[in-house]
Amino acid sequence: MSSNRITIHRPDDWHLHLRDGDMLRAVLPETSAHFARAIIMPNLVPPVLTKADALAYRNRIVAALPAEHDFSPLMTLYLTEGTDPDDVEAAYKEGVISALKLYPAGATTNSASGVRDFDRAMPVLERMAALGIPLCVHGEVTDPDIDIFDREAVFIDRILAPLRKRLPELRLIMEHITTQDGVEFVKSNDTNVGATITTHHLIINRNAILVGGIHPHMYCLPVAKREKHRLALREAATSGDARFFLGTDSAPHTDDRKESACGCAGIFTANNTVQLLAHVFEEESALDKLEAFASLNGPAFYGLPVNDAKITLEKRDVPASFADKINTKDGLVTVFNPGFDVYWHYAE
Ligand code: NCD
Ligand code: ZN
Repeated sequence: MSSNRITIHRPDDWHLHLRDGDMLRAVLPETSAHFARAIIMPNLVPPVLTKADALAYRNRIVAALPAEHDFSPLMTLYLTEGTDPDDVEAAYKEGVISALKLYPAGATTNSASGVRDFDRAMPVLERMAALGIPLCVHGEVTDPDIDIFDREAVFIDRILAPLRKRLPELRLIMEHITTQDGVEFVKSNDTNVGATITTHHLIINRNAILVGGIHPHMYCLPVAKREKHRLALREAATSGDARFFLGTDSAPHTDDRKESACGCAGIFTANNTVQLLAHVFEEESALDKLEAFASLNGPAFYGLPVNDAKITLEKRDVPASFADKINTKDGLVTVFNPGFDVYWHYAE
């Protein structure tokens, strides 16, 4: 492999927000142009709670897909204290869903119906453990007395480590980890625990949000942390360790909702992630690990085949150009701007 050209199996995105309606139609092609599959987050309003909801949402996604794109949405259910274990079992066995999603109540966008009392979710979690259904976890506590930059680390101590002890057979994915603590927690478990890492958390630290003014398009949850954490994430992502894989958490919000006195959380990276990752992995002298992170480790964790199709990326002398805004009927969505030029392109 020359260092200017790389061929890998087509990537997947193991954490994605597609929304619904006009927004879904506008953002889906940005993902399906690059990725073969994506784990679709269920935090719609109202959330995707049941097998019937997931089937209906999947049909809306498939209907919105450009005819020339080859893409399969992998659906999830939003775990609540009222989730019915039998419905979950049927949804999984019939191939409707690939995972459940745990949002602590109030942790992030549209998470009001999330879990408050974990004891009440135990019957579902026990059934999932027995069936091998993965639980995707938004790993932040919501207690007002915990500093927002500490919420991931405290979640590990208070919730995740005890849950792991209580149900070691449950397959857990710590989503969008942002801290060295997250990396270490994953590494300290030898089975059944994986983590997704976003593109933007490999590129920005918290300065990007706050230095020189407030930058709302750099704000997402979990919020970017200090530099040592970004470096720990880079080390994990580029190590080839099978427990770490790509989940972009690409999360569209229109500019009027981001650029506001109370701007909402979410960064949109669907259309430039693949090229940005090539840039990051090259910087870390780890281009040979890009395929593991973007295309191999995720399917291995989910017990799915690797995509047959391949993509080739090449480094050119001219920068790649990306749309900096996505047009939607609801308004413009700003695309993540890494602050540097990217020279990686898809080969013709
Ligand atoms: C996500 C969203 O907008 O739905 N926002 C974000 O900042 N990542 C929710 C989430 O995954 O936390
Ligand atoms: Zn998300």
